[in-house]
Amino acid sequence: MTKKIAVLAGDGIGPEIVAEAVKVLERLRGDGLDIELEDGLVGGAAYDVHGTPLPTETLDLAKASDAILLGAVGGYQWESLDISVRPEKGLLGLRAELELFSNLRPAILYKQLADASTLKPEVVAGLDIMIVRELTGGIYFGQPRGVRTLENGERQGFNTLVYSESEIERIGRSAFDIAMKRGKRICSVDKANVLECTELWREVMECVAKDYPEVELSHMYVDNAAMQLVRAPKQFDVMVTTNMFGDILSDCAAMLTGSIGMLPSASLNAGGKGMYEPIHGSAPDIAGQDIANPLATILSVAMMLRYSLDEAAMAERIEQAVEKVLDQGLRTADIYSDGMQKVGTSEMGDAVVTAL
Ligand code: IPM
Ligand code: MG
Repeated sequence: MTKKIAVLAGDGIGPEIVAEAVKVLERLRGDGLDIELEDGLVGGAAYDVHGTPLPTETLDLAKASDAILLGAVGGYQWESLDISVRPEKGLLGLRAELELFSNLRPAILYKQLADASTLKPEVVAGLDIMIVRELTGGIYFGQPRGVRTLENGERQGFNTLVYSESEIERIGRSAFDIAMKRGKRICSVDKANVLECTELWREVMECVAKDYPEVELSHMYVDNAAMQLVRAPKQFDVMVTTNMFGDILSDCAAMLTGSIGMLPSASLNAGGKGMYEPIHGSAPDIAGQDIANPLATILSVAMMLRYSLDEAAMAERIEQAVEKVLDQGLRTADIYSDGMQKVGTSEMGDAVVTAL
């Protein structure tokens, strides 16, 4: 049966990098992948047309699709808008409406890029971490939230960090299932020494662990985890953490791999439906210049093939094609080092298609 993929390019470099990922999908379609693509507006691009970052037709398209490919959202021109209609709300709305609670962010160092990392090669060589970030709860979505005026006339901003046991349990199971297919070690990251909510997080993780006797569970406070990620990142196999801690730690882990331009992600719901996006943002400062790195988005397509379309062999082909272009010495500006060949966004996408 034909699988439907919603293509939501979004803002900034989103359209450029998504165009390269679409080239890869079209190429695989030529090889027998049974898919149809449909474009939709999200983020600032949607706001400009419809006055909302997540129009009903986009949400309906996302719901009716087997998988969603997303570029990035956000940009300077929308920063002064009310927070309720800012581009980021389009992305958060998709995550919430589709219940994409399990966000997988693999940080893998390609051996060709050992020099591109700001850390010493021996610290990062062979790095392969899977960050499992809770994506539909925590302080990102907790109520009440807002800015209120106190009796003395001063304004006060407030957000709520909240997790129910069932929310913690399902992200825990998601992470343990992944650990079973990898190195069977999980580090759960919390701030249980200060925040009651994450004290519960730790307790529930311990409960879930009982069902996975083969997996070794450890706990780490988030401040220490940030330090350990840059001190000795190879100690980690799977990390599972809250929405906000995962947001921060995954950017940190990205830089271990040389560039945030290399990291794909999958956001899955209980039924395996997923949204796939690079973890970097819309990078408005370099938008429209054909210099952004499309590899994170192309690698997100590989994750889509593996997790939502049941096409593991094609996923591997993409990953190998990416290795091949790196072997050939092709580099976008973010991963460039001396002696390599600097290429633009579309040239990089074309090279991957050729390598396929
Ligand atoms: C990410 C991004 C988003 C987040 C923003 C754009 C809302 O930083 O996917 O990591 O905070 O989740
Ligand atoms: Mg982020």
